[in-house]
Amino acid sequence: MKVPLLDLTQQYQTIKAHIEPAVLDLFNRQQFILGETVSRFEEHLAEYCGCTHAVGVSSGTDALICLLMALGIGSGDEVIVPTFTFFGSAGAVARLGARPVFVDIDPETFNLDPGRTAGAITEKTKAIMPVHLYGQMAPMEKILELARWRNIPVIEDACQSVGSAQRGVKPGQKSAGACLSFYPSKNLSGAGDGGMILCQDTSLAQKSRHLRMHGEDRRYYHSMIGGNFRLDALQALVLDIKLRWLDDWTAARRAHAAYYTTSLKPPVQPPKIAPGNISVFNQYVVRVPRRDELQAYLTERGIGSAIYYPVPLHLQECFHYLGYKQGDCPVAEQAAKEVLALPVFPELTQEQLAYVAETINTFYHG
Ligand SMILES: Cc1ncc(COP(=O)(O)O)c(C=O)c1O
Repeated sequence: MKVPLLDLTQQYQTIKAHIEPAVLDLFNRQQFILGETVSRFEEHLAEYCGCTHAVGVSSGTDALICLLMALGIGSGDEVIVPTFTFFGSAGAVARLGARPVFVDIDPETFNLDPGRTAGAITEKTKAIMPVHLYGQMAPMEKILELARWRNIPVIEDACQSVGSAQRGVKPGQKSAGACLSFYPSKNLSGAGDGGMILCQDTSLAQKSRHLRMHGEDRRYYHSMIGGNFRLDALQALVLDIKLRWLDDWTAARRAHAAYYTTSLKPPVQPPKIAPGNISVFNQYVVRVPRRDELQAYLTERGIGSAIYYPVPLHLQECFHYLGYKQGDCPVAEQAAKEVLALPVFPELTQEQLAYVAETINTFYHG
């Protein structure tokens, strides 16, 4: 039996009858940049996420860059980022000439540790960027309280967690803003790159809209320097259709996760979801001993898996200039050696799930 980490071809069969005529229609209209296709998706997604504003941008990374720019973050500023995340979270900060300040994670959820965050705040801290890793939100109440006290904006990197919630609060509802990614491996994914900024503040949304169009106020008049951060109409169209299925897909991911969690035996540690969190299980990540051996064993048996992430960001070569060393974030360094993501995409069959769980249990117990 083959169980890939992700197979989007089956999902496409479900939605094909809706996507193909809509794409043909767009090609007949030749309206590829912004316009009503993008606005309509922005409205639908804002409603889905319970936020006042949604600004479509070219990727999750560009959403972070654009929102950081809209908040005026740049050279000399510090932004607190968890060290255990996708590169783009900190890359966005560094691209603007600001300094990513790496903070260690909670060993159970792999999300930003609020206690260590408090210790990393300085006079130069201009934003805190919790990342909602693998589909569950970081402890926002504590992080927002820390930030409010010092008047520091919080930017949520929600690139892996469209549809997640924490005690009824969703990404972007209580912070300065949240950034989403529609990269094809994400739970809501486009036919290429795409992203979104969610926020409640009208002037911040307006500024983000200006920045995604080179800071243009009206055609060829620029009051600030932005970039080309626009979401393609083609992506908006595909995403708007897929949004109708998102709750069903999330329910399937959550059911698969529940099955693994009850089937996998120690020493495999299933993911821990913090009380009050609803995870969308963008990834299902276990913590295991002999991780690399297990991964090779799974590969030999036709089971896909992935390591998110093998190197914490404070140890990445491009960040040597920041002066971090091995041992600075021990929880993340340990996690990088033990985490393994298993297939959890919605279309997996019960037989495939059972095969994955049995194969892993056999690896440890024979
Ligand atoms: C946590 C996190 N942040 C940022 C990004 C960047 O998103 P994108 O690939 O759309 O630029 C991703 C996704 O790849 C991500 O998982």
